[in-house]
Amino acid sequence: MGLVLLYVLWTLRALPSPSAGPAVFSNPGPTSLTAEMIPLVSGDEPIVEIFTKAGCPVCHTIPGIPGANGQVGPPLTLGVTGAQRLADPSYRGTAGTVHEYVVESVIDPSAFVVPGYPERTMPVWYGAKLSALALEKIADYLEHQTGNVLAK
Ligand code: HEC
Repeated sequence: MGLVLLYVLWTLRALPSPSAGPAVFSNPGPTSLTAEMIPLVSGDEPIVEIFTKAGCPVCHTIPGIPGANGQVGPPLTLGVTGAQRLADPSYRGTAGTVHEYVVESVIDPSAFVVPGYPERTMPVWYGAKLSALALEKIADYLEHQTGNVLAK
């Protein structure tokens, strides 16, 4: 709860004031996604709906998920990148498998910040929005994606 509040406060702070000038600065961007905008995801939904309900496509390109071409975070091709993260000398998380790494990344995004991508951007409140089943299905899906998407 405290984290949610913190995130909302942070988001509000990040929003430009109405007098912020040119239109290009008045677009709050995808990082303005707040917990209030995301419904609870039970995990009984089809996999595409799990991702779209949760809003992941706003920031991520996800192979096989229509419309998931976000560029804020890394492409979710964990079948390739997962092993690289775990082998990264700066990895300090607790995951031992790619599956665990995906779960950790979703519920505790700051455990490892992917080099080249902004920290404190991935929402920190997914643990309160995704059921354990939804989280399992997300990890099952992503750990197998080697997809043909452009890596950054
Ligand atoms: C507001 C933008 C945003 C949303 C929404 C978002 N993410 Fe992220 N995500 C990021 C950013 C930025 C990073 C990279 C920085 C970091 O590691 O925290 C990231 C990192 C990740 C990683 C680690 C990827 C890697 O290559 O190691 C996974 C896995 C992930 N996100 C899954 C998800 C899932 C699943 C959802 C939806 C439930 C989601 N994200 C929603 C921005 C977002």
